[in-house]
Amino acid sequence: MTDPVPSDEIILEINNIEVIYNHVILVLKGVSLRVPKGGITALLGGNGAGKTTTLKSISNLLRSERGEVTKGSIQYRGERIQDLAPSDLVKKGVIQVMEGRHCFEHLTVEENLLTGAYTRRASHGDIDADLNMVYDYFPRLKERRRSQAGYTSGGEQQMVAIGRALMSRPETILLDEPSMGLAPQLVEEIFNIVKSLNENEGATFLLAEQNTNVALRFAHYGYILESGRVVMDGPAKELRENPDVKEFYLGMSDEGRKSFRDVRSYRRRKRWLS
Ligand SMILES: Nc1ncnc2c1ncn2[C@@H]1O[C@H](COP(=O)(O)OP(=O)(O)OP(=O)(O)O)[C@@H](O)[C@H]1O
Ligand SMILES: [Mg+2]
Repeated sequence: MTDPVPSDEIILEINNIEVIYNHVILVLKGVSLRVPKGGITALLGGNGAGKTTTLKSISNLLRSERGEVTKGSIQYRGERIQDLAPSDLVKKGVIQVMEGRHCFEHLTVEENLLTGAYTRRASHGDIDADLNMVYDYFPRLKERRRSQAGYTSGGEQQMVAIGRALMSRPETILLDEPSMGLAPQLVEEIFNIVKSLNENEGATFLLAEQNTNVALRFAHYGYILESGRVVMDGPAKELRENPDVKEFYLGMSDEGRKSFRDVRSYRRRKRWLS
């Protein structure tokens, strides 16, 4: 479905990182990734494999969870980014869309989008142009612009979360489980938008997904994580055809999670963790 990665330039490079939570829980055990500029790279793996931890190591959101990168290096455009505040990283063009579609529920859709422009000293005209760009990609959000975000559907909230990230004019988007809890048709709609953002705006994506099936159809390259280690990586097309990947990861239902009950128990587990 997708063409080869459009650029050879590695924009984000992770070398052999180790992450420890609460000083004792070793979660990432030497993870290395190379993310090419202008590509869609998928980070795959089941519950607790370490996908979110990897994304948070890059965006520097680990500290608030008492996590720490204790070994290895992370470079963006050849520059070490481990000590930057998340907001400085946004200024360098890297933004994370968090798992679970975090919106400000009491604000309208449009107000949520506008919060995404806060790191920039943009003029009103620029911000309007960006809003229109977001509405072009997400026509549903335009229709719902004055609705309170808390009352919109799960799919619309995921769109708000991505749209808000776009308002910072990112070069690279770290997207955590965009498919989570959404019906297959919406998952498809969101991945198609990711694809057009990649093709038309040249946005680079590193996306974490349990839904291997959909991720490998849209990504150019994939890494599979298990228990904090990369166990396999390769061009998406090769991974799709790999017998082990087929057996262990593509045997899942299209939604990635087998039933609503799974999603619920998963949410419970997450709450218990936090
Ligand atoms: N704040 C934390 N403190 C302690 N352990 C944590 C913390 N956050 C995550 N972990 C543990 O780290 C491991 C990796 O979790 P992570 O959330 O990165 O996995 P994931 O691949 O994103 O999983 P999922 O698909 O369920 O979102 C899990 O064993 C999890 O229990
Ligand atoms: Mg996760």
